[in-house]
Amino acid sequence: MKRDPRLRGLSSEHHQALVLARSVLAAAAAGKCMEDLKGRFREELEPHFLTEERWLLPGLEAAGAHDLAAQTREDHAFLRAAVEAAQRGDPEAMAAFATRLQEHVRFEERALFPACEELLPGELLEAVARGA
Ligand SMILES: [Fe+2]
Ligand SMILES: [Fe+2]
Repeated sequence: MKRDPRLRGLSSEHHQALVLARSVLAAAAAGKCMEDLKGRFREELEPHFLTEERWLLPGLEAAGAHDLAAQTREDHAFLRAAVEAAQRGDPEAMAAFATRLQEHVRFEERALFPACEELLPGELLEAVARGA
């Protein structure tokens, strides 16, 4: 899929999120916990979520795409809550966190980002690209 260059930073972070999800699933399958999961969430995922919540979602809501914004907020809330349980090493909680993260990335790449490319004003996409 051809991605607007101004969203490529966020898209490459999606790739990192999928790598993290696979590591969590592998650890869960091996009966191990991931000691650094919360730290990686805080450093890698939380800033990404905040960028989406600060720029993309208000822009989509202003353009009338409320369902896409609501789904994104719901996924972020689920993942923020689920990381606590996943950190404790329960394999089911780890799998729930990782599979929701995979689904969330797929949803954003297939539905949210195409809508952003279509609906958001250029200056807003430029703010995302600057990491403002
Ligand atoms: Fe994202
Ligand atoms: Fe997201």
